[in-house]
Amino acid sequence: MSMLIRISRDLMKNNLQHAVKNNTWYQTKSRCLSIAAALQHYGPSVLGADQIKKMYEQSLSDPETFWGEHARSKLNWIKDFEQVSNSDMNTGKHEWFLNGKINVSENCLDRHVARDPDATALIWEKDEPNTHVKVSYKELLEKTCQVANVLKRKGVQKGDTVCIYMPVSPIAVACMLACTRIGAIHSVVFAGFSAEALSARINDGGSKIVITADEGLRGSKRISLKNTVDKALENCSVDNVLVYQRTGADVHMQHGRDFYLEEEMSSESVECVPEPMDSEDPLFILYTSGSTGKPKGVQHSQAGYLLYAMMTHKYVFKYEVGDIYACVADIGWITGHSYVVYGPLANGATSVLFESVPTYPDPGRYWEMVERLKVNQFYGAPTAIRLLLKFGNEFVEKYDRDTLKVLGTVGEPINEEAWHWYYDIVGQKKCPISDTWWQTETGGIVISPVPEQDVVPPKPACPMFPFFGVKPILLDEEGKELHGNDVSGLLCLGSSLPGMARTIHGDQERFLDVYYRPYPGYYFTGDGARRDAEGHYHITGRVDDVINVKGVRLGTAEVEDVMDNHDAVAETAVVGYPHEIKGQGVYAYVTLKEGISESEEDIKKELQAMVKSSIGSFAVPEMIQIAPGLPKTRSGKIMRRILRCVAANKPEDVGDISTLADDSVVEEIIANHEKLL
Ligand code: PRX
Repeated sequence: MSMLIRISRDLMKNNLQHAVKNNTWYQTKSRCLSIAAALQHYGPSVLGADQIKKMYEQSLSDPETFWGEHARSKLNWIKDFEQVSNSDMNTGKHEWFLNGKINVSENCLDRHVARDPDATALIWEKDEPNTHVKVSYKELLEKTCQVANVLKRKGVQKGDTVCIYMPVSPIAVACMLACTRIGAIHSVVFAGFSAEALSARINDGGSKIVITADEGLRGSKRISLKNTVDKALENCSVDNVLVYQRTGADVHMQHGRDFYLEEEMSSESVECVPEPMDSEDPLFILYTSGSTGKPKGVQHSQAGYLLYAMMTHKYVFKYEVGDIYACVADIGWITGHSYVVYGPLANGATSVLFESVPTYPDPGRYWEMVERLKVNQFYGAPTAIRLLLKFGNEFVEKYDRDTLKVLGTVGEPINEEAWHWYYDIVGQKKCPISDTWWQTETGGIVISPVPEQDVVPPKPACPMFPFFGVKPILLDEEGKELHGNDVSGLLCLGSSLPGMARTIHGDQERFLDVYYRPYPGYYFTGDGARRDAEGHYHITGRVDDVINVKGVRLGTAEVEDVMDNHDAVAETAVVGYPHEIKGQGVYAYVTLKEGISESEEDIKKELQAMVKSSIGSFAVPEMIQIAPGLPKTRSGKIMRRILRCVAANKPEDVGDISTLADDSVVEEIIANHEKLL
């Protein structure tokens, strides 16, 4: 109750200043009352350390009661569920809130509209500096219903997949929610992927409709999205393309297939009855890279995902009703799904949509936005923090950041220098940093410091604590569990969580092979971790052939597959190497066929162009070495360990090379590498 008073008081204070200025204090009073009502409904987010400990213990000892109670109190159900969970870590089965009926858009919109229709759902921080647009919950609901009605008119039915290839914008959020309104499955593809990558995702997901924009805008650069869609569709069979006019550019519209989205919406009703969905019906597919094969469509389901996104958002960011919360991720990644859209909106929050880039018009962009929008929580990526710290403190310090309460980071390890700059300079040593470890597959944050940080001093670059229900397990190479503290091993999860991926779209066998068969009884994350002497978790990085470039996951095999198609290329091996800003960069070793007359420089340029057009510019290798051969064992396996050491400028670490078929190649590779620097 005291918190209720404190929050209402703070809100009153902020709102009143504004209200007095604008002579709207009657509205302010009713807004405060509705916030107080919302708080009573959802409960507090700032918990004491004892309460957190008790909740964590209960979440492991009695998960049925723990999750069951939260699901009933935090979500609106069309029909109550009959069983909390039917999950089995041996078979990779996760079923939660069985036989319940729910609608995700109703939980993210209608129930907030009923309480406070004018509350701000989204603040769109547009690419153009100093321009933001506020969208209320009522407006977002109406737009969502209109898109839903357009989709229905175009023949989209429950269970169909809709591909969304759009810039970060309120209308893109309305499109995602419109799918959930009618029970369609969305497949959002990051609007930086190439036509080839887009067409592979359209085909794999079986999308019959694509929603896109004429162009995207990032850092004032125009990105021709509709043209890319047109190219992608040369290899797909799609009925309709809906085009949102972001810039108004003149784009090609194919008669009978392509329609302007807003024109189509204008004739539609602003109401659409939400489709009752089974808790376990698919909600969305999101593609991510693995160590082998093509990207996999990670599939999440309705109720468990929503509850997990909502709870992690609330507790990890100490989100309180009335806060302005900004996660600057793109909606094309899981962070955008869970912490721009679903988690915040399910909590009735005001969520900032960031369309731009951190250095446009200058490296103060984030902090100018924090001041202007009065942001309370800021959630970003280490790669941006590393980039911004290079420009010095002046770009941060000239803006008022006193509203900030919590800072978050995600996607890759944050190095200590970046952590300290974030904590000391951006947060002025008063904002805890939530270093959140999780994955596309987990749907939401799994390990993060926030819950107990009020009593435990923060540790730089350390996610520290498991969230409710999470049982982190460390295994040795043989799969034996490592007990006690001060141990390092393969990071696995030993318990089912409501937000876990249910399958890989169309490939359950691959799902089991990648995550559940390597170490039976556990979910294998692909990461290594250390449990320190105090029992806190540190992430040591991927243990497979996945690399992390600017927080984006990339399978080295994907890049190799593209480059192998070059006529002059015999063989390739791609590894990651430490990169000051990007975290990891892409380093390609390439061997050529006999008798190639083309210059090495031309071949390198062509290889880079191929990767750009097949995957996207973020995947292009910055370092390409034309190598005399690749270091292989006698059985023909490439020793990537050696290639990684050379790429990392640590040839002294290559260690024992006696098992190589031809060890002379190593010296040549090292010499070539030095020439590249
Ligand atoms: O290696 C881990 C790294 O990112 C991977 C998951 O990538 P993705 O599915 O694209 O999801 C990114 C957003 C959640 C993980 O396997 N990773 C993510 N967060 C952290 C991290 N590595 C270290 N520290 C983190 N906080």
